[in-house]
Amino acid sequence: MNFDTIKLTHVVVVNVFILIYLIKTVLLVANKPTSLQRFTRVFKIPEMIISVLFLATGIWMIALLGTLQTLLIVKIVIVLTSIPVAIIAFKKQNKMLAVLAFVMIIGAYGMAEMSKIPKVKASANGVVDGQDIYKNNCQNCHGAKGNLGNNGAKDLSLSSMDHNSELSIINNGKNMMPAYDKLSDAEREAVATYVETLRLK
Ligand code: HEC
Repeated sequence: MNFDTIKLTHVVVVNVFILIYLIKTVLLVANKPTSLQRFTRVFKIPEMIISVLFLATGIWMIALLGTLQTLLIVKIVIVLTSIPVAIIAFKKQNKMLAVLAFVMIIGAYGMAEMSKIPKVKASANGVVDGQDIYKNNCQNCHGAKGNLGNNGAKDLSLSSMDHNSELSIINNGKNMMPAYDKLSDAEREAVATYVETLRLK
């Protein structure tokens, strides 16, 4: 299992989840109670599996990335609020609530597309701070001194990787290390340079 596999699983699962929910909402809104009942019955187990995978892969990715941007927090709150709204909607056969929950889920999904890997802001004087980027994105696995080794992270204090290979692994990711292709060239450059300062001389 690598980071991209988890991410892909999450995206696929979320799409299936949205599709199932869309069909249920359409059946409810179109006044098709028998079809809705049948659909709900047939998809009960798949829907449960999908929901668990949806949350599990989401939580797993957050744990790996180790950062929660504001946008991501908003998204999680919306998703978690939409769940009880959806449950009540279908229990009470309330079309408005069902549509509301659908809009919330789609909204959160759109936000997920926007958020990606956190982009660290350059500081006031326009200087990109490698240490700051490291703290926000890398420390969770590599640790403050580079030797934490979480999630199979390589010990950066013992690394002898050349600068260009570092830039490449940061850009593309490898195994459990996510790809930081949303960082700018200057940010990747700064964090790679910072990583080299963690090496034991
Ligand atoms: C989810 C955990 C995780 C995060 C977060 C993470 N890494 Fe890694 N990193 C790894 C793993 C795992 C490897 C080993 C990959 C392999 O070779 O299989 C690795 C390897 C590396 C290497 C190569 C070291 C060597 O000598 O082979 C560098 C450099 C590196 N990471 C830098 C970073 C930087 C910079 C960041 C933040 C922008 C970062 N990592 C964030 C898990 C992580």
